[in-house]
Amino acid sequence: MKKIIAVDGPAGAGKSTISKICAARLGYTYIDTGAMYRAVALKVLQSGKDAVDVASDIQIELDEAARVFVDGRDVTNQIRTPEVSRAASDVAKIGFVRKRLTELQRQMAARGSVIMDGRDIGTQVLPNADLKIFLTASADERARRRFEELKAKGIAADIDNIREEIIARDKQDSEREIAPLAQAADAVPVDSTRMTIDEVVAEILRLAAC
Ligand code: CDP
Repeated sequence: MKKIIAVDGPAGAGKSTISKICAARLGYTYIDTGAMYRAVALKVLQSGKDAVDVASDIQIELDEAARVFVDGRDVTNQIRTPEVSRAASDVAKIGFVRKRLTELQRQMAARGSVIMDGRDIGTQVLPNADLKIFLTASADERARRRFEELKAKGIAADIDNIREEIIARDKQDSEREIAPLAQAADAVPVDSTRMTIDEVVAEILRLAAC
């Protein structure tokens, strides 16, 4: 069984939904690295401080229920707004922020069997992962999924705006100089556009068992 699993891909591809289910089925720890960039972004927006200052002393904890705590405060819902998504992609360009969070992510992964999702897990954070997945879906499908997710939380949104925001964020994430969103050479590509959640989970569990 593969012990260290890296899942990368663009915004809204289903990485966190799929990784959470696979982690529960395998009895592994799920580590959502996007939530960590979102946590830094939220604190920058709320404090008005510089991202480097924030990253140097922020305390981020992820619990077993995938809740996110910043300096001991539960921010699980607050980090999921479109404003924080944009700000997360901005702070994620900064070398010092990436260095700090990458260190934390490696420490978390060293504790045992994990599924970690993000943009640079297979390429930078855990280049020796036992299994690397690059999860994608068409921009239209990813926008639809994000729209449904926001709707379910009672957050009003416009699907065309969401699609534009997703495309802009993917461009910024793919074109940044440090640790851009990229498929590792040894990653298995999974296009989930026409797959159900159960089908994607089954495919990853099959690959994890090889
Ligand atoms: O959920 P969604 O796919 O929309 O985004 P996320 O995984 O929560 O990540 C939010 C932002 O954090 C991304 O747009 C990236 O800019 C950044 N990020 C990153 O740079 N590296 C990671 N390993 C994870 C996220």
